[in-house]
Amino acid sequence: MNQQMLRETAKQLVANNKGLLAMDESNPTCYKRFADLGIPQTLEARRAYRELIVTTPGLADCISGAILYDETIHQKTIDGTPFLKIIMDAGIIPGIKVDTGAKPLAGSPGEKVTEGLDGLRDRLAEYSKLGLRFAKWRAVIAVGAGMPGKACLEANAHALARYAALCQEAGLVPIVEPEVLMQGDHTLERCRDVSEETLRTVFEQLYTQGVVLEGMILKPSMVLPGSVCQQQYSINEVADATVLCLLRAVPAAVPGIAFLSGGQSAEFASARLNAMNIRFKGRMPWQLAFSFARAIQQPAMEIWRGEGANIVRAQEALLYRARCNSAARRGEYNSDHVI
Ligand code: G3H
Repeated sequence: MNQQMLRETAKQLVANNKGLLAMDESNPTCYKRFADLGIPQTLEARRAYRELIVTTPGLADCISGAILYDETIHQKTIDGTPFLKIIMDAGIIPGIKVDTGAKPLAGSPGEKVTEGLDGLRDRLAEYSKLGLRFAKWRAVIAVGAGMPGKACLEANAHALARYAALCQEAGLVPIVEPEVLMQGDHTLERCRDVSEETLRTVFEQLYTQGVVLEGMILKPSMVLPGSVCQQQYSINEVADATVLCLLRAVPAAVPGIAFLSGGQSAEFASARLNAMNIRFKGRMPWQLAFSFARAIQQPAMEIWRGEGANIVRAQEALLYRARCNSAARRGEYNSDHVI
């Protein structure tokens, strides 16, 4: 393991107020989002959409790394240029989602464990040869009556840690993503408690498996009330609950925390990240960044709708959200004016 290289890559991923663009939706997820907008659910539509993203001019000014899906790393633009070349030439670090999805956890109704460890060492070696420099694995933690249970937390933390150790062995920085799901009527306080327990369990396993904390990135969910929670919370309340939870549970050796958006609107995701970076400026040991999919892509996808004539406007919308989130890292996001 080349620890120095891992540290450098991890630092680069969260440097210069940039963040990650997650464009690693599995085919079923991608199809679902296309179907909601009446976009044809075809291989060519997926390719065209991802071409739109990777060819967006200026993206590298705010995006440090792109998380790709296995299909995407082998695809090309309509004129035959590999997506990977376009990304790397732009100065964006390419990464790859390597889990194979969350499956029902035996003995724990309603809970899931993420799979994908079988054969992972060989897949990582292939990805490394192709020039990919980091990877991602997402675990999902549901909140509800009796959930999450110990079995779910421990199984997911163990898998995340084994994945992370394998990545580092292969020279790839692991993005460790334990997502506490927003679905439910739970309060902000309940999400904070579940998030803290989840993170403590994950870091215990990372320690047990010998993962070098300086060579990884944590990708957590923000601490949020459940999607149908009756109580409203301000942007500042969410920002405070999130950072205070992270300060309690995430070691200072981790170079960066890059949030997923988890179904929040694009505006809320930027505003909450912005509030965290304002309110805790100079008091956080790690860089606080973003690794959004929907909160960067959704407005662009809604404009595109599968029509070639909409590509330029969709790219402008994509770049705009990327710039908003870079501004949020500096604590300079303002939803009222163009940045
Ligand atoms: O695994 C999920 C993605 O990497 C983040 O997606 O920002 O839409 O939650 P999201």
